[in-house]
Amino acid sequence: MPTILIVGASRGIGLEYVRQFSAAGWRTIGTVRDMAKGAEVSKAGGEVHLCDVNDSASVARLAKSLAKDAVDVLVCNAGIYTGRDWKLGATDFAAFEEILRTNTLAPLRVAEALVENVARSQRKAIVFTSSRMGSNAQTNGGSMPYRVSKAALNSIAKNLSVELAVRGITTITTHPGWVRTDMGGSGAAIDVKDSVAGLKGVIEKLTPAANGKFFNYDGSELPW
Ligand SMILES: NC(=O)c1ccc[n+]([C@@H]2O[C@H](COP(=O)([O-])OP(=O)(O)OC[C@H]3O[C@@H](n4cnc5c(N)ncnc54)[C@H](OP(=O)(O)O)[C@@H]3O)[C@@H](O)[C@H]2O)c1
Repeated sequence: MPTILIVGASRGIGLEYVRQFSAAGWRTIGTVRDMAKGAEVSKAGGEVHLCDVNDSASVARLAKSLAKDAVDVLVCNAGIYTGRDWKLGATDFAAFEEILRTNTLAPLRVAEALVENVARSQRKAIVFTSSRMGSNAQTNGGSMPYRVSKAALNSIAKNLSVELAVRGITTITTHPGWVRTDMGGSGAAIDVKDSVAGLKGVIEKLTPAANGKFFNYDGSELPW
């Protein structure tokens, strides 16, 4: 039975990952940063661990508690979307630093802490939840802090894909679509079930040929 670890699973896309992979018979581990939200993960069929991705000690505790486990697929999913009203001339630099900490540096921290678990698994995959908004090729402006945080995450993923290929690890980034979650809002284009069903298909079909690619939830490739 393969194991998937979803970091940032308390709600939205992460929680749906837990539901769909545990329903498919995978050992599924989901992290929350507040144990009060762990009940949802358990109900969805996942094992619950604590992790605040911005706290090095918390990430180290997660890695220690999973020290003996193989993780076939690590999904770095936790993220925030602040700075939607960004305007040139009024950049909130403290908020910008916070989004870079959470969306860009924290996924690297998590991947670094858990790479050995992935390396000792069968499937050996690291999946970064990015966004089409981080595609420099497709940007149409607005929300610059979020776009930059995901573009830089894409760069981290691309660099890791080269670093880790020699260890047989496949590293990809994904765009879940514009999804009806707390982040995406009720007016978003797609249901979380459809988003994650698509992402699950991408993950199940992963081969080393996918290494270093950026996938839409429907399996099509996106430009950097
Ligand atoms: N929804 C969309 O349309 C959309 C589109 C493109 C990309 N994405 C990306 O998809 C991912 C999930 O988004 P979502 O729509 O499911 O958002 P969401 O409903 O707002 O959920 C965000 C998740 O990230 C967790 N998180 C945030 N900061 C964290 C931290 N410091 N440590 C640990 N966990 C933290 C949250 O935990 P708490 O419950 O503790 O806050 C929650 O589980 C994000 O990376 C987002 O950027 C979403």
